[in-house]
Amino acid sequence: MSKLKTFYQCQACGYVSPKWLGRCPDCGQWNTLVEEKSRGKKIETQGRVQPTPLSMVEAETGERVSTRIKEFDRVLGGGIVAGSVVLIGGDPGIGKSTLLLQVVSNLSGKVLYVSGEESPEQIKLRAERLSMHSDSIILLPETALEHVITTLNDIKPDAVVIDSIQTMYTEEFNSAPGSVGQVRECAARLMFYAKKSGIPVFIIGHVTKEGTIAGPRVLEHIVDTVLYFEGDRGHPYRILRTVKNRFGSTNEIGVFEMTDAGLKEIENPSELFLSERPSDVSGSVVVASIEGTRPLLVEIQALVSPTTFGVPRRTSIGLDFQRVNLLLAVLEKIAGLNLGGMDVFTNVVGGLKLVEPAVDLAIVFAVTSSLREIPIGSDVFVFGEVGLSGEIRAVSQAELRLKEAAKIGFKRAVIPRSNAERLRESFGLDISGVTNISGALDAAGV
Ligand code: TYD
Ligand code: MG
Repeated sequence: MSKLKTFYQCQACGYVSPKWLGRCPDCGQWNTLVEEKSRGKKIETQGRVQPTPLSMVEAETGERVSTRIKEFDRVLGGGIVAGSVVLIGGDPGIGKSTLLLQVVSNLSGKVLYVSGEESPEQIKLRAERLSMHSDSIILLPETALEHVITTLNDIKPDAVVIDSIQTMYTEEFNSAPGSVGQVRECAARLMFYAKKSGIPVFIIGHVTKEGTIAGPRVLEHIVDTVLYFEGDRGHPYRILRTVKNRFGSTNEIGVFEMTDAGLKEIENPSELFLSERPSDVSGSVVVASIEGTRPLLVEIQALVSPTTFGVPRRTSIGLDFQRVNLLLAVLEKIAGLNLGGMDVFTNVVGGLKLVEPAVDLAIVFAVTSSLREIPIGSDVFVFGEVGLSGEIRAVSQAELRLKEAAKIGFKRAVIPRSNAERLRESFGLDISGVTNISGALDAAGV
């Protein structure tokens, strides 16, 4: 085997340097040089592969293994696929290790849990908290990837967990564990192992401060499935979101609650997000939103109050800030609301983030309701996109939203007229179809 040559390549422009530099001399970007390796000779081609007509390809549908955690199966697209590599990213302390320990303890067969972060004693303590008594989980406190692969070949487990990819290193690279080169190389080797052996591999990756460097981002194109575990430390709710999935749909979510005994799945999140909703207060309205294929009823709150000094403050939590500002401008100009001297705070209850345009109408209602101090009935829910000239535009999957709301007990809906006209069923709801902002505000009585 020829000797490996180390060089540093700029990830932005491709500039190659024999030593590491903080700034790329070619494109001028900072911190973009990453250690790479080459064998210094051409890659040998292995025999040619014959092209095949698509109709002749035999698709293996591949058995999926259920994790017996419905919310987790859902985000995977129905269960674990053999030989797949799943990356679970998230902030430190959000519950990634807890989630995976719970998932693998449900699997039948041997699981190798490689931990570079915690000692076996710490993991044991956690397992006891989760009241898990699994004999099939084998712990390996190891950070050298070469040793991990050797152990894998020795004990041939049925699933592997790597906690976390940032602690792993390969001897081939000189850089420290956690650097882009190390993280990428280790993931690529694990991917190769998974494909060759048909064993599913779960990789945990911390989201680093910058969100990109050496974090799960640099691995997204390598692995099959990328899940992000999100949530607010202050709230017990956690959302597991699919951002990439070669074996299922993306934008699927699973909802969990962090309790003393680990993560509990929540099958009916709408009821939970609405459970503490006060009735008859102004500035609050429920929106029927969709996350992936899943309808979610969530409370949107607004607080509008006179500015005490200088420039009015605009803050929004869980909503797109630019979008909220745009809607405030529409409210001023089209609906004639006087928001100039007002602080406006908007919030999504439960620590959720809602970015789809269907939330627009709810923001408009919550702000108007708070400004005019008129409560919106607690049996009303809304959805709809608001355009710049105050028109209310249709959104997707109206029936799914209505059905979920009717199930939870809502009675009245204010929705875009074009959605209302196309409905095949009304689910026993009193539906007002609206075309513009003033009509919408009238329909909701604010
Ligand atoms: P952990 O899974 O270690 O997070 P990560 O691997 O993403 O860094 O767990 C994070 C937090 O969860 C930790 O602060 C303690 C809390 N926790 C509970 O509240 N209940 C539990 O049963 C467990 C195991 C952890
Ligand atoms: Mg952990």
